[in-house]
Amino acid sequence: TTNREKYRPIYHHTPIYGWMNDPNGMVYKDGVWHLCYQWNPYGSKWQNLSWGQSTSRDLIHWDHQLNPAVEPDGLGMIFSGSSAIDTANSAGFGKDAIVTMYTSAGTSQIQSLAWSDDNGATYNKYPGNPVITLESEARDPNMFWNDETKLWTLVLAHALDHEMLIFTSPDMKEWTLKSAFGKGLGSQDGVWECPDLFELPVEGSDESKWVLLCNINPGGPFGGSATQYFIGDFDGTTFAPDRDASGNVPTKWMDYGKDHYATVSFSNAPDNRRTVIGWMSNWQYAAEVPTMQFRSANTLPREVGLFKGNDGQIYASSAPSPELLSLRGKAVTDVKSIKAGTKARNYNLPSVNDGACEIVMDIEPGRTSDVTLTLSNHKGEKVMMAYNPVEETMSFDRRESGVTDFSQDFPAVTVSPTFGKDSRLSLRIFIDRSSIEVFGNDGRFVMTNLVFPTTPYTTLSLSADNGKAKINNLKIYTIK
Ligand code: FRU
Repeated sequence: TTNREKYRPIYHHTPIYGWMNDPNGMVYKDGVWHLCYQWNPYGSKWQNLSWGQSTSRDLIHWDHQLNPAVEPDGLGMIFSGSSAIDTANSAGFGKDAIVTMYTSAGTSQIQSLAWSDDNGATYNKYPGNPVITLESEARDPNMFWNDETKLWTLVLAHALDHEMLIFTSPDMKEWTLKSAFGKGLGSQDGVWECPDLFELPVEGSDESKWVLLCNINPGGPFGGSATQYFIGDFDGTTFAPDRDASGNVPTKWMDYGKDHYATVSFSNAPDNRRTVIGWMSNWQYAAEVPTMQFRSANTLPREVGLFKGNDGQIYASSAPSPELLSLRGKAVTDVKSIKAGTKARNYNLPSVNDGACEIVMDIEPGRTSDVTLTLSNHKGEKVMMAYNPVEETMSFDRRESGVTDFSQDFPAVTVSPTFGKDSRLSLRIFIDRSSIEVFGNDGRFVMTNLVFPTTPYTTLSLSADNGKAKINNLKIYTIK
């Protein structure tokens, strides 16, 4: 029945009812992905923050717990945080307990523990809370077991100081501050929030690197909130960022759309996967978007990897999680190769599920200056995406995408570097009722943007300027 509700996504995670922001306490255990989230179960504005919880076996179909998993108490509302599996029972809450650390937000922001010894069905609060109290605003604890140092490691956002604090602990209860990272580095325009820290191999090399996620608000590349990250080394206590040839620490972005925030990863994911989910909105207008009983969806799950860019720097890619392939239904368009020129070629989007679909294609731009993909409906509402092979950028224009007037910050054009090895570009575009996620070159760049067409887009038009571009393997799949 929820599928009849306007703008309710068909294949993205949303709360059944009420307001949602950051994903929280994401952890994998015994075949189940746990996704908690900042939740107001009573209304569609940011208030009464507790943790909601959904679980899934495939990262696509979610079961929702109808009551909050962690509820506010005398220490305050329940702000963002993380969960980990305590395999060695180091905290004493039980072997293999899910241990959670979150921010208690009352008169100040302090860090508290909860645990679950029944696979997330119920959470108990630690009577010794809080476990960390600082003088200044600090939040969104993200903890993990470091197998090299044999210690729990915690990254905590020192929000107004624009830095991340790193602590260690043997038992998750007694924490020692080891270092601070970030003063003066990266984007400093907003508060620093929702950190994550993990190690990954660099594609095509024997090297591995650490990634520090640092969500910031405002200060994103297109205004408002966004996820920046740093690549570097971590010795168990200190994060040392990579520098470019001139000795600077470059600012890097995980997603080049306007609606990707508070992104962090699942703890304990199988097969060395680093699976992330982000909140698909922006603090500039999250409370104004024209959805009704619920507000906000999460991004599709993504797999983070590292690759070396043409400039020698290491970057993080975010590719669609493999589970998403199982969503592909029938290909309503299946074209081996076409030439696109100034006269647009048109393809129908699926008529089922309000046009929800996945569009796949490989572009060989040749000598063209721009290859344009337009999504449109009969009301003249449209989204224009353009690949510029000379600049090596892709843009996304939602200024005429439908309902845009609820906030002056909503109409926008976002632009991403394409990070291609050459001028060819492969695309996977996921369209749902109120969002578009563009994955380019196996996730080397992503653009996530909300859209609110008054009636679904029905047509994809392909065109190119100054010559003809080859479009290969064009497929438009329904969503099962
Ligand atoms: C990020 C954030 C967090 C905080 C939470 C409160 O979006 O501001 O820093 O814990 O939202 O809902």
